[in-house]
Amino acid sequence: MIEQQHPRTGGCPMRPGTDAVPLYGAGFSDDPAKLYREMRARYGTVAPVLLDGDIPGWFVLGYRELHQVTSNPELFARDSRRWHAWEHIPEGWPLMPFVGHQPSVMFAEGAEHRRRAGAISDALTAIDQFELRQICERLADGLIDAFAGSGETDLMVHYAARLPLLVIAELFGFPATEVPELAADIAASLNADDGAIAAHQRVAARMQRLVKARRARPGADVPSRLLGHQAGLADEEVVIDLLVMMAAAQQPTANWIGNTLRLMLTDDRFAVSLSGGRRSVGQALNEVLWHDTPTQNYIGRWAARDTQLGGRRIRTGDLVILGLAAANTDPQVRPDFSEAGADGNQAHMSFSHGEHACPYPAPEIAEVIAKAAVEVLLDRLPDVMLAVPAEDLVWHPSLWMRGLVGLPVEFTPAYTPIPAMGTPGALYG
Ligand code: HEM
Repeated sequence: MIEQQHPRTGGCPMRPGTDAVPLYGAGFSDDPAKLYREMRARYGTVAPVLLDGDIPGWFVLGYRELHQVTSNPELFARDSRRWHAWEHIPEGWPLMPFVGHQPSVMFAEGAEHRRRAGAISDALTAIDQFELRQICERLADGLIDAFAGSGETDLMVHYAARLPLLVIAELFGFPATEVPELAADIAASLNADDGAIAAHQRVAARMQRLVKARRARPGADVPSRLLGHQAGLADEEVVIDLLVMMAAAQQPTANWIGNTLRLMLTDDRFAVSLSGGRRSVGQALNEVLWHDTPTQNYIGRWAARDTQLGGRRIRTGDLVILGLAAANTDPQVRPDFSEAGADGNQAHMSFSHGEHACPYPAPEIAEVIAKAAVEVLLDRLPDVMLAVPAEDLVWHPSLWMRGLVGLPVEFTPAYTPIPAMGTPGALYG
């Protein structure tokens, strides 16, 4: 428990245990907003922290400091091979999937990053937003068909967690018959067990086959646009960047949907809209990005030379963690939600900022998916309500993602068409 204000003297991240906050172990993430408040009160805008295994890093809580870090990619760089702590990282370190260098857009820097990220932006910009909305509605309807007749479901498990991947799979041109296995392998690849690596390899093999097929016969899909882009990307580059996009899109968008449904089902201000109004869906989506943003923290950046940040001395090769949710609640910048809500204010850090931010137009694509998900659900099941008290909803114990384990609801059973073969409802059961 962090209690008092301390002067900003201690906290060298290379001397674990001196003055740093352990961000691991039971209970540390039960109430992240409280954790960030306490860290801010004690350390100010940049706090020394210890990750799993007492690995040190700097946690950026201040909005201005986060802006400074993300706007200076030469100083706070993405290539994790700069880290001076590699020799201390144990085998099987749980955060390895986030920091282990891969030759993808995520770890690329400078001109190479612009080449990769530019191709991604162009390939995503070519997606027609109107068609995307139609795809989302059709796939959302298919998922709802599978549970509408029963009068109850878990919206997180059977809806929010599934829809984004279905949409991405269609935008990538995966055959519908492959999608259930793809979804199962992606879920298995996120588990902390022995099957995770094999599942990830199956997903990668599937992506390789898709890229090979599109190289031979291009279609109207994201892989074909990347392959045909003037950046001249090699097949391996396209495969790894598609894998990054799929992972980057799936879980955050699923949590954006889940967190928005939770807000609308638990907050009286949205009760009217649940039975008809539509304006407030956009408002709820935006409010979630301020209060319960799906990617609450992001790891990270590595200092390219000695510098200062928030009054701290940062050394070359130090790890810097982006406290996106904490920056959103920085009292220096936080808008007053008490009267107007978050209406229209999109100055949050939820998609990060700068060169490595979530690439344009990915946030818009996520918004089309999330908005369609909420609106179609409310159209189909207008009297949907929580099946458990709001305080019984459980958040995943993750420092990185902010999402619910489950969202049990009940509603008047609705008519469902007999699922046709090939609809997502029929495939998922
Ligand atoms: C609610 C949904 C989403 C959230 C909250 C989110 C948030 C983020 C964040 C915080 C980053 C890291 C930025 C950084 O390093 O500074 C990121 C990167 C990225 N996101 Fe998103 N994202 C979302 C949806 C999507 C979607 C739908 C796509 C693709 C269709 C996407 C593709 C990417 C890619 C490719 C990167 C890596 C960019 C780079 O390193 O240059 N994201 N996203």
